[in-house]
Amino acid sequence: SCNNNIYTYEKLSEIKDFLKEKIKNEPKIGIICGSGLGSLGNAIADAVSIDYADIPDFPVSTVEGHVGRFIFGHIRGTAVACMQGRFHYYEGYPLSICAMPVRLMKLLGVSYLIASNAAGGLNPKYKVGDIMLQKDHFNIMGLAGLGPHIGPNDSRFGPRFFPMTNAYDESILNKVRQIVKDLKMENKVHEGVYTCVGGPNYETVADVRALISLGVDSVGMSTVHEVIAARQCGIRCFAFSLITNICSTEYGTTTEDHSCSTEVHSEEVLKVGKDMEDELRIFVEEIVEAISQD
Ligand code: 6GU
Repeated sequence: SCNNNIYTYEKLSEIKDFLKEKIKNEPKIGIICGSGLGSLGNAIADAVSIDYADIPDFPVSTVEGHVGRFIFGHIRGTAVACMQGRFHYYEGYPLSICAMPVRLMKLLGVSYLIASNAAGGLNPKYKVGDIMLQKDHFNIMGLAGLGPHIGPNDSRFGPRFFPMTNAYDESILNKVRQIVKDLKMENKVHEGVYTCVGGPNYETVADVRALISLGVDSVGMSTVHEVIAARQCGIRCFAFSLITNICSTEYGTTTEDHSCSTEVHSEEVLKVGKDMEDELRIFVEEIVEAISQD
């Protein structure tokens, strides 16, 4: 059967009750920190951290650079639920489990999602350290029949069929556009289309050329299924990519140690997040404040 989703409404309600007991305020905004972007969570006031490992029936994130915990607290006075570490398809979790925390956040009271990811740059204008606001995504895994909502539908999480034409909220995007101007970040911020692939390997040159021809601007291994689950249950979404490396459209030269001059490595992906941490933290704080005035 396709019903591999063990996180039923009843199970998630139990987990919600477990968390509710430990937190003071109902979170309004959910934040998901991408690889190397975990420090976004470190500026949260009156923080209550709960490791995924300490939550009954919760999966455990297994990736380096993803610590694996919720941080509940406030950013500029607004109650947030922040995920430091997320679940990826390449860890072996079905997409329904990868996106489960979004449904949990909905039960906790969240009505906005800010998702971030580390991604490879496909658009030739992009440079390492740039930010791409997601104006849309290309759901290549969905076209292949994978999704967080495959299987029997529990309408308490939203309708069986739902549109994705306004997945990335235009009114939040407008607020972020203003913030980009105010923070004088225009020279490094783009708007584009993200896609999520299965990973965990990075793309071949042929993969990269194909994705570019399909109109994709950045490629990563997350976010799309989270935004799908969020839209199904009515959460308004904003997401951005940190461009941590530029995808190669040309075959490189093999070096003496049999590596390749155009290769990408996870260490450099994490380092770019680290280098950008202060700037990104302020950027996200501004977005939280703007959303809270909605
Ligand atoms: Cl080049 N590809 C994918 N799929 N994910 C990434 C990446 C590339 N760089 C950072 N994350």
